[in-house]
Amino acid sequence: MRKKVTVVGAGNVGANCALRIAGKQLADVVLVDVVEGVPQGKGLDLLESGPVEGYDVNITGANDYEATANSDIVVITAGFPRKPGMSRDDLLLANYEVVKMATEQAVRYSPETILILVTNPLDAMCWTAYQVSKLPKHRVVGMAGVLDTARFRTFIAQELNVSMSNVTAMVLGGHGDTMVPLVRLSNVAGIPLTELLDQATIDRLVQRAREGGAEIVKYLKTGSAYYAPSAATVEMVESILLDKKKVLPCSAYLEGEYGIHGLFVGVPVKLGAAGIEKIYEVQLKPDEHAALEKSSASVKELIDIIKQKIGS
Ligand code: APR
Repeated sequence: MRKKVTVVGAGNVGANCALRIAGKQLADVVLVDVVEGVPQGKGLDLLESGPVEGYDVNITGANDYEATANSDIVVITAGFPRKPGMSRDDLLLANYEVVKMATEQAVRYSPETILILVTNPLDAMCWTAYQVSKLPKHRVVGMAGVLDTARFRTFIAQELNVSMSNVTAMVLGGHGDTMVPLVRLSNVAGIPLTELLDQATIDRLVQRAREGGAEIVKYLKTGSAYYAPSAATVEMVESILLDKKKVLPCSAYLEGEYGIHGLFVGVPVKLGAAGIEKIYEVQLKPDEHAALEKSSASVKELIDIIKQKIGS
């Protein structure tokens, strides 16, 4: 039987996730959105690309969740994107309501599903979905590090004029300005980055990766990035559906790993058929550990704001 993926939010990120899932023939896709007609129209338009593109998956759209029943994966992209000058955190309370509702509905129809969160502020939205869904922690995962490292890898490849596929990078921490790129563990075909670039250049590339989302928002003016975010999301979908067990930086619920308790924070995980099959704890240098602590403190601040709002 074909696999089934629901994508909640048929906007820029959601529609591009559907397009990429269909293109790779990974699963049937159900697009869900609050706006009447949009998921149905985009779903049909995507389906009609099938004869040309040569895929046979089914793509449908809906405004309610009945059609999503028994999804193997639910990707949540619903919410409001950033406008120029906004940080991801500015989206917090508006997107909390959206993600809460989407999670409740999605899990009601697909209790065995794996949730992939994309809506920002990412780590806080993962926490929200985890609390609301009551799913085991290995079945709630957030898309952040794959995108952050993709940006960092792009800039490294450009700088060195080498293939992007040769560049490996690692990032920890929250999906925000405090993310922690682990330069020491980044390499080009196994050659440490620190042997290929001077510190000032590395610092410049790290900073550009850190601000990679804002760079796109500044250009687009009316929204945020969606091609790279959807590509990153579908790499995670693929690793789960095909049980590839890729080791990818994702937002995961930590219970003591890296000294962090009760928060979703970006860490390297093994993604397979069961969801998060392992969390890797990398030995950190003191400065890296301090940066991770700072990053997780900023994730905690957002969770505290949500807790205040819901009065718990
Ligand atoms: N249920 C379902 N869909 C919803 C809901 C809801 N409660 N509320 C809003 N939506 C839909 C909107 O109608 C819209 O179609 O979510 C979609 C969001 O799409 P865009 O505005 O195009 O935003 P996008 O660029 O896709 O970003 C979505 O992903 O990367 C993150 O920061 C980004 O949080 C943002 C999210």
